[in-house]
Amino acid sequence: MKKPNLRSPLYDGEKISIPAEVSDLSKPFSGTICSSKGDEYPIKNNIADLITEEKHYTLAQSTNHWNLTASVYEDLWRVRSLSLLTGEPFPIEKEKELLNKWVHPKPNGIYLDVGCSTALYARSLKKAEPESTHIALDFSHAMLEEARLKAEADQTDLFLIRADARELPFFAGTFDGVVMGGTLNELSDELKVLYECRRVLKKGGVFFVMHLVQAGSWYGRVLQNSAEWSGIKFWTPEQSNDLFQRAGFEVEEQLIKGIVCFTKLRPV
Ligand SMILES: C[S@@+](CC[C@H](N)C(=O)[O-])C[C@H]1O[C@@H](n2cnc3c(N)ncnc32)[C@H](O)[C@@H]1O
Repeated sequence: MKKPNLRSPLYDGEKISIPAEVSDLSKPFSGTICSSKGDEYPIKNNIADLITEEKHYTLAQSTNHWNLTASVYEDLWRVRSLSLLTGEPFPIEKEKELLNKWVHPKPNGIYLDVGCSTALYARSLKKAEPESTHIALDFSHAMLEEARLKAEADQTDLFLIRADARELPFFAGTFDGVVMGGTLNELSDELKVLYECRRVLKKGGVFFVMHLVQAGSWYGRVLQNSAEWSGIKFWTPEQSNDLFQRAGFEVEEQLIKGIVCFTKLRPV
C-alpha cells in the first residue's frame, strides 16, 4: 500500500504527509496533519478534513450532508438505481464488473474516487486488487462516516478525505486512475472538476465516469426538468463528450443503457 501525499489547500506547492495507519479503518485514528508552513487539518475517526471554508451547496448537494440520506443511500437507493434508470435488470455486481474491467487496478497503483459518497467504487476496486491504494473523497462528512463503516465492515483499507473536488488536494500526476460515479450531474462547476481530475491523473491514467444523460422520452425530460431546479444537470451524450474533450480527455469506451452512461476516458 502506498502512502499518498496531499497538497496543502492553502499553500500551493506544500506537501502534507498522511500516516499510513489512517487507512486501517479497523483502528480508530484521530490527530492532525500539517504542511511545513504550519497549516493544520484535523483527522477524526480516520477522516481527514481539508475543507478550510464551507461553500454554498445546492439543494441536491445539501441532502448529501444529512445523516439520514447517508445512512440509506447505498442499501436503499444505490443498489437498485441502475435497474430503475436503465430500464433493465442491472444489478450492482454488473456495474462493479464493468468498473473493475475498465479501470483494471494494478498492484501498487493509486486511485481516487471523487464524490465517493459511501465509497462503493473505491471499495470495489480495492477488493479487485488488494495491493492497490485508494482514496475516497467527498465534501459530505455524513457520507464519509458511512463510507468508513462500510469499508470497515468489508475489511477494506481506504484513505477517507473530506475536500472539495473543485480544488483537489493532490499534486499533478498523482493517480493511476480516477473514478466518479453519479457525481458529474450534481456538480456546481463540472468543467472545473473535470480539469482537476485531468490534472491529478498520471499520463496514460484512466478516468471512469458514470453519469446520467438526457432522457429521450417527453416524460423522462419532464422528470429531469423538475430535478434541475435542485441543482442536478443533464446533458446529451454529445454534450457530455464535448465536456470531456474540453477538459482534455478522449473517450476510449462508452456504454449507454437507458439514461445511464459509462465512459472510459484517457487524458490527451
Ligand atoms: C450521486 S452521489 C455519488 C455517489 C457515489 N459516487 C456512487 O457511485 O454511489 C454524489 C456525491 O458527490 C458529492 N459531491 C458533490 N459535489 C462535490 C464536490 N464539489 N466535492 C466533493 N464532493 C462532492 C456529494 O456529497 C455526494 O456524496
